Amino acid sequence: MSLPGVLMLDAAGLEAGLLATAATARGHQVHAATTAAAYEGYGPELKGLLAGHLVTDFARPGRALDEIAAYARRCGVGAVLTVNEYLTELAAHLCTELGVPGNDPGWAHAARDKAAMAEAFAAAGVRAPYTVLVRDDAELRAALAGPRVGFPCVIKPVAGAGSAGVTVVSGPAGAAAAADAARKTAGMYASGADPRVLVQAYAAGTEYSVESFTQDGATTHLAVTRKQVTGGAKRVETGHSLPVCLPPAVEAAVYREVEAAIRAAGIRHGASHTEVIVSGDGRCAVIEIGARLAAGQIGALIQHALGIDVWAALLDVALGRPAALTPSAHGYAAVRFVTSPHTGRLTSLYGFPRRGPGVPFVRWRAAIGGLVREPGANGHRLGSFVVTGLDADEVEERADALLRRVRIRVEPALENNGQVRPASTSAIAP
Ligand SMILES: Nc1ncnc2c1ncn2[C@@H]1O[C@H](COP(=O)(O)OP(=O)(O)O)[C@@H](O)[C@H]1O
Ligand SMILES: [Mg+2]
Repeated sequence: MSLPGVLMLDAAGLEAGLLATAATARGHQVHAATTAAAYEGYGPELKGLLAGHLVTDFARPGRALDEIAAYARRCGVGAVLTVNEYLTELAAHLCTELGVPGNDPGWAHAARDKAAMAEAFAAAGVRAPYTVLVRDDAELRAALAGPRVGFPCVIKPVAGAGSAGVTVVSGPAGAAAAADAARKTAGMYASGADPRVLVQAYAAGTEYSVESFTQDGATTHLAVTRKQVTGGAKRVETGHSLPVCLPPAVEAAVYREVEAAIRAAGIRHGASHTEVIVSGDGRCAVIEIGARLAAGQIGALIQHALGIDVWAALLDVALGRPAALTPSAHGYAAVRFVTSPHTGRLTSLYGFPRRGPGVPFVRWRAAIGGLVREPGANGHRLGSFVVTGLDADEVEERADALLRRVRIRVEPALENNGQVRPASTSAIAP
């Protein structure tokens, strides 16, 4: 009997490629539901892996659901997967429609829309920053005047990702511009402008994420990941390191909140990525949850450090088979992202690490001669490299030393508003 087909909702990007490779290596036919524009961008290798694809319009999820379900039935699909944050809700509905393992479609919206997430967290008693949904400037002023917000506070889009449109606001003067920036950050498949914006109390502390797999409602935490995040108004993730060993009482508190968040977002079959901030006194606030494996190389870090084949595990969970989640290695892995200190034209790059022993992955994405931006979102990162080893301190030191060696030159370039930014020659270390 032939194996069930595997359907990916959007197969663009590194993680999706690894997942498609793992599924084909196991003998599954892999199909992708995608947009016409995204399919154009698929490389020959990915196109060669796919047994078929369906072009649909994710901006019309009702119609996309019907089209994809019909296609999936024709192709004998027995597992639906996505690593695209914006498609996790559609994936949950599709799984139910096809009768394959997936998340609860009744709650899947809460893992995507941060207003629904805040409500679901409040209803489930998940410790999360106090959040107010505002629709206009009057509501924004009222929210900022409320006793439970204060400054700094965080203004963010309802349906964003990758830190885009998120601003840490230090006083009333910056709030209206931050709300405008959040409103302009429409989700990837948004069909129109959304006047809603979230105002959130600021959670001070150290930022971590927890990478978990849930099967039949039982959750296994694979790792806690420490984040390096830029300070100031724009919080871009510049590094991840795992596995982090928290003090047992803190770890227990973090896992308790993460498990409550997983339940609140209806995650019952699949990976999740929960971002938390732990305060100096060990209290954990859940910032957000995604019903997907973490991006930013975290899947690869888990594989290198712990020897868990996350792609095979994702596939097993989606097929309803027991996934192998026990570590077979006890190392440590970190990724560092290179960012530009200024907006301008990138004229040179020196010292970017090469792949080699203890550096299993490097990727440079920015074109020499192209425009680069002062980081305002994860999408503005220029390149990344992964460092692995057996000792956490040694890996951290080596990763930071490699990052300090990277030198880029950024020349002034006219911005959209006509202003000129100064040139700079800088090390990129945060
Ligand atoms: N309430 C908060 N308190 C402190 N920092 C926050 C808060 N909300 C967001 N941040 C910071 O902004 C970043 C992006 O916000 P997040 O809600 O995770 O949006 P996104 O979905 O775009 O990743 C976080 O990683 C964190 O550094
Ligand atoms: Mg986030």
